[in-house]
Amino acid sequence: MQDILEELEDRRAQARLGGGQGRIDTQHGKGKLTARERIDLLLDEDSFEEFDMFVSHRCNDFGMEEKQFPGDGVVTGWGTINGRKTFVFAQDFTVFGGSLSETNAKKICKVQEMAIKHGAPLIGLNDSGGARIQEGVVSLGGYADVFQNNVLASGVIPQISVIMGPCAGGAVYSPALTDFIFMVRDTSYMFVTGPDVVKTVTNEIVTAEELGGAKTHTTKSSVADGAFDNDMEAIAEIRRLFDFLPLNNREKAPVRQVFDTSDRIDNSLDTLVPDNPNLPYDMHELIHKIADEGDFYEIQKDYAKNILCGFIRLEGQTIGVVANQPMVLAGCLDSDSSRKAGRFVRFCDAFSIPILTLVDVPGFLPGTSQEYGGIIKHGAKLLYAYGEATVPKVTVITRKAYGGAYDVMAPKHLRGDLNYAWPSAQIAVMGAKGAVEILYRKDLGDADKIAEHTAEYEKNFANPFKAAERGYIDEVIMPHGTRKRLCRAFALLKDKDLQNPWKKHGNMPL
Ligand code: HXC
Repeated sequence: MQDILEELEDRRAQARLGGGQGRIDTQHGKGKLTARERIDLLLDEDSFEEFDMFVSHRCNDFGMEEKQFPGDGVVTGWGTINGRKTFVFAQDFTVFGGSLSETNAKKICKVQEMAIKHGAPLIGLNDSGGARIQEGVVSLGGYADVFQNNVLASGVIPQISVIMGPCAGGAVYSPALTDFIFMVRDTSYMFVTGPDVVKTVTNEIVTAEELGGAKTHTTKSSVADGAFDNDMEAIAEIRRLFDFLPLNNREKAPVRQVFDTSDRIDNSLDTLVPDNPNLPYDMHELIHKIADEGDFYEIQKDYAKNILCGFIRLEGQTIGVVANQPMVLAGCLDSDSSRKAGRFVRFCDAFSIPILTLVDVPGFLPGTSQEYGGIIKHGAKLLYAYGEATVPKVTVITRKAYGGAYDVMAPKHLRGDLNYAWPSAQIAVMGAKGAVEILYRKDLGDADKIAEHTAEYEKNFANPFKAAERGYIDEVIMPHGTRKRLCRAFALLKDKDLQNPWKKHGNMPL
């Protein structure tokens, strides 16, 4: 018996070495952790239960039968993060560059299916050269199996991808089907085809970093939701995000112990909005001041900065925040910000996370580049997402809510549950200047008359009361009491139950 126990330990030790000490050293030399080191950091101590440690590939071409590494380039299993279960896979770059073989794909599919069945998130730590070249179409089939499971899991369990090395070819499409993608600066890349292929096909000369590094994907393409400086920071931040999320679409997000009072007054909010309506202010300040302990987990913070998206807690309960940011493009909605926020709203709705919308929006961004870029369709994505969402929706208009953007930003008319306005709110078809120029074109040469018309327009519309008279605003609230009002609002809405008409699925503007 002792022999058998020893053999098991030997086999385990060999599997834990992945592609061997030499390749582990190379991995470390690049500033990267190994698959197992990453899992150990991600999960609570001693909570990892590994599956399929001895699975090996079945390829007999190109001398592959001589090259066997137990586990075949991916480490899979489950464990806990702060006591809550999660499934995980980590591609092992030390084994055939983490490339995806038939058996490697089967291991990933197994944890995907278990995650769906047992209602726990799946976190993928990606570090892969793509399809295992030696296996040809079998590897491509393996990818498609993984993609299919990603699609089935979407909206059922949260799926989080962390890109921690090169991800080429098929390796990028599984992450692209998940809810969030995070990257590690300088060591991770994502591209469908690498720089060499790009040069051959398009004659463009581009580095891997420029083509698919963290900066590219967090500022230009919006493929990634965030970037971190190294593996350790990335994993710590994933643990932080995980704590905001429910385990699946039938459960609510965990309620965390709060060390903040719900009736906390913040008098500085009374002067947050400048007297001059054309001056910006930082919407982050409002979010931090209303959130439990000022904690805000921002998503896509370097992309479409004219809208802010992320998670806070109120009385310990996770809330998704969408907020116009007057500091960038005056908080206008454009194609990028509409797509960013639309996707975030859909995530919140899929996982029963209530939504707080903070509005200061002068309208949609005008111009040919926006129109040619399809702002009509992209703006409709956010409109659709809000209109479809059945989770509790609370809106606060701090200043401008003009035109079509008023209609998009979770108004009463899109089934907003509680809609508040600060006294500084201005709810109108457009700002005074634009309105007067259209209504009184004949008086444009007469400054006195224009001033008179502008004053009249402002008196009528540069306030929240016209909307409040109609009941489109439930209450005009004092800025300093916003946190208290929001805590009470979301507490009231805790058991909201609203169903959309039955359908197979809607046809949202993609
Ligand atoms: C098999 C692979 C591999 C692959 C890397 N390796 N990629 N083995 N299949 N796809 C192996 C290497 O042979 C090497 O083995 C080890 O992994 C490390 O690779 P290096 O090249 O030495 O590492 P590095 O210099 O860091 O470069 C990493 C890399 C590069 C950028 C990922 O290896 C690379 O370009 N690989 C190919 C990428 C690719 O074109 N994949 C196919 C995409 S097509 P040894 O034994 O020497 O250590 C695809 C189609 C799916 O994925 C489409 C579905 C929609």
